[in-house]
Amino acid sequence: MDEVKVFCPATIANISCGFDVLGVALDSVGDEMVVRKTNKKGVFITKIEGQKLPLETKSNVAGVAGLALLDKTDYPGGFEIEIYKKIKPGSGIGSSAASSTGAVWAMNHLLGDPFSKTELVTFAMEGERLASDVAHADNVAPALFGDFTLVRSYTPLDIIPIQAPSELFATVIHPQIEVKTSDSRKILKTSLSLQTAIKQWGNVGGLIAGLLQNDYDLIGRSLEDHIIEPIRSILIPGFDMVKMASLEAGALGAGISESSPLYLP
Ligand code: HSE
Repeated sequence: MDEVKVFCPATIANISCGFDVLGVALDSVGDEMVVRKTNKKGVFITKIEGQKLPLETKSNVAGVAGLALLDKTDYPGGFEIEIYKKIKPGSGIGSSAASSTGAVWAMNHLLGDPFSKTELVTFAMEGERLASDVAHADNVAPALFGDFTLVRSYTPLDIIPIQAPSELFATVIHPQIEVKTSDSRKILKTSLSLQTAIKQWGNVGGLIAGLLQNDYDLIGRSLEDHIIEPIRSILIPGFDMVKMASLEAGALGAGISESSPLYLP
């Protein structure tokens, strides 16, 4: 096989309480990508449709993630990549992660799957480093594993796939604003009180238990963010109003996906 076409899912990161550790893949929103082998060594972005993004390999998240993988192989050739973007960059549903993971998954597949999913996450994280200055894994992990994932540890990387109740769904509302992940990370506090940490890790544990036990009430109680949401919500006009309306309408919870839209499980 010399060519593969892949669906690259959008993802919701953080899930309120799990900043940089929890994420979930969406099954109906995502990009498409065609990746083919070339004789020439390197990674070449030959086409991008749908959004204006750089074709230059080292400025493109798919290119950088692809180079990270290529660097770890003896494969003498290279890959060219066509990207059909459906996810708007800056919309908060893992646009960069979709491109990074699509590239490394396809390249791995064309090479006969030499790398594990966790190794692919490490390559795709290089795309996230380019996009947001931080190599976080909470979007790329669910994009590669599917469903919910927990990044239990970054060093060493330990990804725990979590099977969510099949009836659970999320509504994503995009308020037509663009918030760069790098900007929305710069405004966050870098230290917090023990009292706040206790509330937050109680919710992370509660959310995982709720997902595994199909306990919707517990899931709803755990969808609280005491650390990031109070700060980032300032960047989203109407956030409190929409959150309240969603909860009144029966959503289990409502929060910020990455840095901009709301998700309403
Ligand atoms: N956990 C990251 C953040 C996800 O919220 O900054 C960004 O894609």
